[in-house]
Amino acid sequence: MWNSCHLFCLCLISAITQTCFSYELAKHHDYDDLKRTLKDVSAKCEDISRVYSLPGETVEKRKLWVIELSDNPGKHEPGKPEFKYVGNMHGNEVVSREVLLKLADYLCDQYNQGNHTVQWIINNTRIHIMPSMNPDGWEAANNSPRETDGKKNWLRGRSNARGVDLNRVFPDLDAILYRDEVDGETQHNNHLEKLALAVQDTPTEAPEAQMVIQWLFQYPFVLSANLHGGDLVANYPFDSTRSGKQREYTASPDDATFRYLAEMYALPHGLMAKKHKPCDMSGDDKFYKQGGITNGGGWYSVTKGMQDFNYLATNCFEITLELGCDKFPPAADLPMYWEQNKDALVNYILQSHVGIKGMVVDRVSDTPISGATVKVYNMTDGKYQYINHDITSAKGGDYYRLLIDGQYRVDVQAPGYRTATKCLVVENDVMNGAQVVHFELSPLGEKVEGIEDSGCPDHVNGIEEIEGDDEEYESLLKDLLGRLREYFSTEYQD
Ligand SMILES: *[C@@H]1O[C@H](CO)[C@@H](O)[C@H](O)[C@H]1NC(C)=O
Ligand SMILES: *[C@@H]1O[C@H](CO)[C@@H](O)[C@H](O)[C@H]1NC(C)=O
Ligand SMILES: *[C@@H]1O[C@H](CO)[C@@H](O)[C@H](O)[C@H]1NC(C)=O
Ligand SMILES: [Zn+2]
Repeated sequence: MWNSCHLFCLCLISAITQTCFSYELAKHHDYDDLKRTLKDVSAKCEDISRVYSLPGETVEKRKLWVIELSDNPGKHEPGKPEFKYVGNMHGNEVVSREVLLKLADYLCDQYNQGNHTVQWIINNTRIHIMPSMNPDGWEAANNSPRETDGKKNWLRGRSNARGVDLNRVFPDLDAILYRDEVDGETQHNNHLEKLALAVQDTPTEAPEAQMVIQWLFQYPFVLSANLHGGDLVANYPFDSTRSGKQREYTASPDDATFRYLAEMYALPHGLMAKKHKPCDMSGDDKFYKQGGITNGGGWYSVTKGMQDFNYLATNCFEITLELGCDKFPPAADLPMYWEQNKDALVNYILQSHVGIKGMVVDRVSDTPISGATVKVYNMTDGKYQYINHDITSAKGGDYYRLLIDGQYRVDVQAPGYRTATKCLVVENDVMNGAQVVHFELSPLGEKVEGIEDSGCPDHVNGIEEIEGDDEEYESLLKDLLGRLREYFSTEYQD
């Protein structure tokens, strides 16, 4: 009785300023519901949110809608990491669409209620949530009748309206990387394809993938997850096996960090890391034995997926989440799925704050340097190992390098500058933000005075020391400069 009065009164108050909105959890939201819900949520939280759609449209002329949550919506702030969730890429895998919609509503409400954790996250992270990447597929799946066992057809609506599986059409950058590995080419380890070529490499029958590729290049995303259904596990790169075998553990250079990231979703999840019935009825719950996580290739090889593309084309680390066996459960089950995923969804966003971040600036003019390369060497346990995946600084000169706890040497390079080196210890504490480490680069030819101590032990400091007059270095610089020019000339403008 009190509850309904309470709700009624709230509605009365909010009716004066806006329409009364209360989120309906046990419901599948169709395209119009989805759009309306995002706008209603944003109206409740107008100071910390923005709803936008990607330029272009799907095959059936729908929009890909995104809600952004940030204390400064619409702007990239140097030093604030950008995060994204993408759901419902396979139109028939609908749980992600619903939990992501609910997540937006939850974060908004909790912020308004003064929840410290949620306020901290929104004040310190720019979050983009796309509940549905394949709204056409969703409609097809929703229109397919339930079978006698109450389940929907396993495949109907998976693809887009032209029959394209959107998670099999991204440019195959793994193939480029693996070929380079064979050729002994190790410097070409990031941003393997620029925007124009990536779009051109993606079939026009998959406008949804083309739109998402533009989006990936437009925002300096640092971390993301692509949410699916049909199994229950957190899957991390690489998806595509090196040998072409159907099943083979395929580590990326950031294997340790990716395993950690996947665990940060699996562990707080209600079921993922706990003993549960496997979806394939084999009786062998191998994912549970692995803590609810799996390497992509170690499960089954996927080429041209979105996950590996994120990592190899941009600075974004992406994992793939499978939220449960049932791809299209009845609406009455949705509150249960929300409860299972709620803490995991929030905890994973927080991981945008692991490792180090900072500014790369010109030491003389103090201006930011974009496109600088951040190289990391792992020195944990007395080893000295190059993590063969460089990160680049964003347009404002800010960089983000996700890393688990450990000891590292970090080299920052930019064309026309001396390499700056620092050795440091990372001890993550996400709610304090990533450790801030700025780099001031000295222009080549400038006299260098009073450079701060790198903090590196002698045996590490001398390694790969590069001087401005070194011929090899000059040619390396030229090459890098050329690549960067090419890259930035076609980069999508914010
Ligand atoms: C605040 O939000 C966090 C993250 O979702 C949650 O774990 C916590 O229970 C919330 N606190 C309250 C008082 O609701
Ligand atoms: C978040 O920012 C708002 C607005 O500036 C401020 O009122 C609030 O105290 C901040 N909360 C946290 C936890 O940082
Ligand atoms: C760094 O090396 C240590 C020791 O080999 C290893 O345990 C850790 O996972 C590595 N960290 C990264 C980020 O690769
Ligand atoms: Zn899927």
